[in-house]
Amino acid sequence: MDADIQEIRGRATAEIDQVSSPEGLDRFRVTFLARKGLVAQLFESLKTVPPAEKPRVGKALNELREYVQGLHDRRAADLTASGAGRHAPDLTLPGRTRFAGSRHPLTRVLDEIKEIFVSMGFAIADGPEIEDDYHNFGALNFPPDHPARDMQDTFFLDANALLRTHTSPVQIRVMEVMQPPIRHIMPGKVYRNEAINARSYCMFHQVEGLCVDRGVTFSDLKGTLIAFIKEFYGPSLKYRFRPTFFPFTEPSADIYITCFMCGGRGCRICKQSGWLEILGCGMVDPAVFRSVGYDAERYTGYAFGMGIERIALLRYGIDDIRLFFQNDVRFLSQF
Ligand code: DAH
Repeated sequence: MDADIQEIRGRATAEIDQVSSPEGLDRFRVTFLARKGLVAQLFESLKTVPPAEKPRVGKALNELREYVQGLHDRRAADLTASGAGRHAPDLTLPGRTRFAGSRHPLTRVLDEIKEIFVSMGFAIADGPEIEDDYHNFGALNFPPDHPARDMQDTFFLDANALLRTHTSPVQIRVMEVMQPPIRHIMPGKVYRNEAINARSYCMFHQVEGLCVDRGVTFSDLKGTLIAFIKEFYGPSLKYRFRPTFFPFTEPSADIYITCFMCGGRGCRICKQSGWLEILGCGMVDPAVFRSVGYDAERYTGYAFGMGIERIALLRYGIDDIRLFFQNDVRFLSQF
């Protein structure tokens, strides 16, 4: 009998190590602990033990049962903790769709513009969104009574700090720390105190451009910007330059392209003109060079600026600028 107890103890100790699933654990339980299991069988043969031996053998049997039960319970706890006790995955369930994410339409347009200018040799610069009057207006040759300097149009933070109304002050900041030759584009956010509606927002993005060197001419401006337009909008698009005024350039022009909504016939988007204005540009005014200490006799340059939202609205056929800033996934996931 003692030998039998030792043997069952040894078998149980060895077999519990093989158990790695709830099913295996149940087989272990049936083999050793169930009503007709090996331990119960030993208890059955207790009848044949001489009466004098019974107390000692009975005690050994009780210890065996406790020992085997302990093996079983510890393994059961291990299996639950490792997760093997849970139900196996149902491989027939439909998969979960994961939204891969996408770039914001403004980022896409901006990246494309950057890539084209970088391929033409432009570097990228940026400047602060909180500006002073000097960089946003004064150094750019805005007269003291210019309407943009009015609280109606510009967000002032205090008497001299304001949210920049365009990216042109970055031109000044670049020229303050660098000498020509300069070929930079300067993308960023700008702010205007405007009523918010489908067409205008209090914040939007611009890309500024500046090229300064000896002998830079209006032909360089045209060549560069026409190359950009053909690359960005396609080679067959028609464009035109129209004279206009900016305080910081002279002469100045706005560039228009054929309205691609109507092909130039006239529609709601182009206000029946057949043309869309896409950027402002001009030759840097000598007064601007004087602000940054450049010799205006020695250097000439051109500058340009364009709004990104407008380009993205047109390109993707979006009819409300506010959609860009609402972070509605139903809108964003379309790009
Ligand atoms: N700063 C102008 C604006 O916000 C855009 C602009 C026009 C920038 C002509 C320029 C430029 O650099 O030469 O409307």
